[in-house]
Amino acid sequence: MNFEHILLSRHGEGDRQTGLITLNRPKALNALNDALMDELGQALLDFDQDPTVACIVLTGQDKAFAAGADIPELARHDFMSAYRSELISRNWETIRRVRKPVIAAVAGFALGGGCELAMMCDTIIAADNARFGQPEIKLGVIPGAGGTQRLPRAVGKAKAMDMVLTARMMDATEAERIGLVSRVVPLAQLLPEALQMGALISTLSGPAVMLAKEAVNRAFETGLSDGVQYERRVFQALFGTPDQQEGMAAFLAKRPPVFEKA
Ligand code: CAA
Repeated sequence: MNFEHILLSRHGEGDRQTGLITLNRPKALNALNDALMDELGQALLDFDQDPTVACIVLTGQDKAFAAGADIPELARHDFMSAYRSELISRNWETIRRVRKPVIAAVAGFALGGGCELAMMCDTIIAADNARFGQPEIKLGVIPGAGGTQRLPRAVGKAKAMDMVLTARMMDATEAERIGLVSRVVPLAQLLPEALQMGALISTLSGPAVMLAKEAVNRAFETGLSDGVQYERRVFQALFGTPDQQEGMAAFLAKRPPVFEKA
């Protein structure tokens, strides 16, 4: 597949690389049209299947991570065409199938579907100019890519209602304070920081990293006792892996571990 709306690159060495996906419709502030979302889904699955890639970073440009779904494209729909074409679902859910970690590196606007896309990633690193918002209410609709569900889980009901009902934009400082993003860094440091995080994760046990991601995600899908039970089983299962032997032996021998790749 030839990609027109995204750029791909790889960072790091050998079979422990970080795949970088850059949304690339800067003139439209990376508005997420159907063609871009098809490409993004394909690129995510390609990196996920690639044995030389251990981690994925998703980013945009300095002005915008993404300013939401493509409004001219949305404006053409009525209910039946939205329903028939599985609007904002057919190619937006692909990211949930990715088993390797996906880090969102967000600078500038992350609005509407852009904010929702960032929240679908496993963690968000924000530049100090990042602005998050769910402005769909101003278009006479509501968030359609999980915003009403992921936002309250990430930041609680009061802040989620504040953003969804008023369309207010939140700056990076507030987003970090309430737990929407994991770290805020100066704009120039955004990509280096995200790639460094990717490089660090790439040195760890691939199987443990993928199962850790799965276990944390399980917290959003299940009750506490089922989640803890699931975690316990995964924890016990990892004692059947060479990486558990290696990690613990290396600690006891006071040497660095050498883990299996993802
Ligand atoms: N879709 C399509 N084009 C968009 C866009 C979008 N979501 N957001 C911005 N653009 C385009 C603008 O139309 C403009 O194009 P032209 O130069 O051809 O006119 C270009 O990007 C630059 O935008 P602005 O001139 O508006 O830039 P600004 O700095 O003055 O404002 C902004 C920036 C506040 C982000 C403003 O562009 C804006 O409000 N954008 C819309 C944000 C929005 O409502 N997002 C939600 C979309 S709906 C959705 O996402 C549903 C869902 O849940 C999935």
